[in-house]
Amino acid sequence: MIKHISYDILSESKMPSQEIILVEDLSKSFSTHKVVDGVSFQVHSGETLGLLGPNGAGKTTTIRMLTGLIRPSSGTITVGGYSVLKNSIEAKRLFGISPQEASFHPHLSIAEDLYFYARLRGLSRSESMLQARETIAWAKLEDHSAKNGRQLSGGMQRRLLMARALITDPPILYLDEPTTGLDPQSRHALWDYISELKGRKKTIILTTHYMEEAEMLCDRVIIIDHGKIIAVGSPSELRRSMGIDSVLTLKPRRSFLSADLLALQEIPGVMKLHNSNGCLSIHLREKEALDEIVVIASKLAGINELNLKEPSLEDVFLQLTGRGLRE
Ligand SMILES: Nc1ncnc2c1ncn2[C@@H]1O[C@H](COP(=O)(O)OP(=O)(O)OP(=O)(O)O)[C@@H](O)[C@H]1O
Ligand SMILES: [Mg+2]
Repeated sequence: MIKHISYDILSESKMPSQEIILVEDLSKSFSTHKVVDGVSFQVHSGETLGLLGPNGAGKTTTIRMLTGLIRPSSGTITVGGYSVLKNSIEAKRLFGISPQEASFHPHLSIAEDLYFYARLRGLSRSESMLQARETIAWAKLEDHSAKNGRQLSGGMQRRLLMARALITDPPILYLDEPTTGLDPQSRHALWDYISELKGRKKTIILTTHYMEEAEMLCDRVIIIDHGKIIAVGSPSELRRSMGIDSVLTLKPRRSFLSADLLALQEIPGVMKLHNSNGCLSIHLREKEALDEIVVIASKLAGINELNLKEPSLEDVFLQLTGRGLRE
């Protein structure tokens, strides 16, 4: 078990203990391109907050501002009562980061890598040795501790990045796409690590493209599109707020024509249609529409396959923006 360092700094804070991170009207422009646009949110102590959005939505830029890596064009960020801009030393003591893009030194073993990170974070030599050992054990990398980061598998590299983030056992963790590019088995293993951190009441901000990851791990989700927050809530609140009862997916025998889609859209209870990759997905306000849809769709194009499911966060995004997260 990782040594638990006490964070008295938090109890000195002037903020209500509930809101450990407070972001107000945060914006960032790169030359004339505004990539984060007036973002405000709070994160409660012990909460896991998901930042969801398509490529280029501004998630990493937001994390880089939250962690003081880049300066906002405007807005404020307070962590544990400390301004990330004005009291950066105190604020930075409170968090660890697992970045989206990471580099691994070719001449440092992972044991040395973690020792180096601990020293950078101000731990003494003996504390650094201890924490490097503890975090290697936590990440189940003992058998690989003599390798350098580049010699690890993708899943192990992600665990090493989490170990770096945990090196001082901070109360807040920023995990930027901790599972992107991993095979499903490694992704599930990473979810177990993140769940363990949730169990230890860490406050976590997690960015992801995987809806099931957000549904499984996040207490609340912020959906970002083009640098703006377009929805906030728990996964179930977000699904309910859209008023979608269920989602019907149809694989037609022949492609639907535009006129077919118009006819299906007219059926009472149909909210939104999305035709992509030879599949039509239909958001239903009520299941009563189902019979009529199936009859009409079979007449229009035939049906090879159909599936009815609960709406997912992906469907929420589709309902809000008219496009899928990966389009
Ligand atoms: N240093 C930079 N200079 C110029 N433009 C940048 C810079 N960093 C990011 N951008 C732009 O800002 C926008 C948001 O990028 P960001 O990396 O925050 O997106 P993201 O939501 O993390 O996307 P992804 O899911 O692909 O990681 C993109 O259009 C990107 O090209
Ligand atoms: Mg990113």
